[in-house]
Amino acid sequence: MAFASSGTEPAQRCREIKIVLLGDSGVGKSSIAQRYVTDTFRPHGESTIGASFMSKMIVNNGSPCKCQIWDTAGQEKYHSLAPMYYRGAAAAILVYDMTKKSSFEKLQKWVDELKERGPDGIVLCVAANKCDLEEGREVEVAEGAEFAQKSGADFFETSAKNDENVGRIFTTLVTNVQRKSCLLYTSDAADDTPCVDLGGRRII
Ligand code: GTP
Ligand code: MG
Repeated sequence: MAFASSGTEPAQRCREIKIVLLGDSGVGKSSIAQRYVTDTFRPHGESTIGASFMSKMIVNNGSPCKCQIWDTAGQEKYHSLAPMYYRGAAAAILVYDMTKKSSFEKLQKWVDELKERGPDGIVLCVAANKCDLEEGREVEVAEGAEFAQKSGADFFETSAKNDENVGRIFTTLVTNVQRKSCLLYTSDAADDTPCVDLGGRRII
């Protein structure tokens, strides 16, 4: 079995990174994933049922990396499914709609849940989406940035519609995961089974 390193080898060993999108319904999780993967935007996209999956190969700092992107459904009735999708994730994007304060207030719950039940060392990023709708702003930049800082997350204001900062979220997350070098996700195992290695310990 070809496990990834114990953290002493360079980031080039990082082959696949599981990234999960979390946040209230309608904040733009699917739109962010779609913008990143297909560089398109649907003004009237449908609400996600259960979850959806996309992937994209990128080369970050010279090392190829496959982003496995799990886009969860924000409707409350699907909340109980979320652990299935954040399990084994190296990174999470916590999305709120900067024109909807209630979506921002719900993010604390996701941070608490990830701390309690999520993967150890998961890398976090907060995305304040729909920043093209400045006239409808309900959450100030400083509020979002402070929340992110307290949660140990990076922070970006994004627009899936206008393609603002969407690529930067993913590049930043991949860079941070590679830098940490402690949570490496690889699919080059002999049986082709994806595995996560934490210093030699297989956890999924
Ligand atoms: P669920 O699947 O229900 O959890 O919602 P979601 O978070 O995936 O939201 P989705 O991507 O479906 O977007 C909801 C609505 O917001 C859609 O009508 C999108 O077109 C719109 N939307 C998403 N991102 C943006 C953005 O950056 N700017 C603007 N103006 N609208 C956006
Ligand atoms: Mg969706």
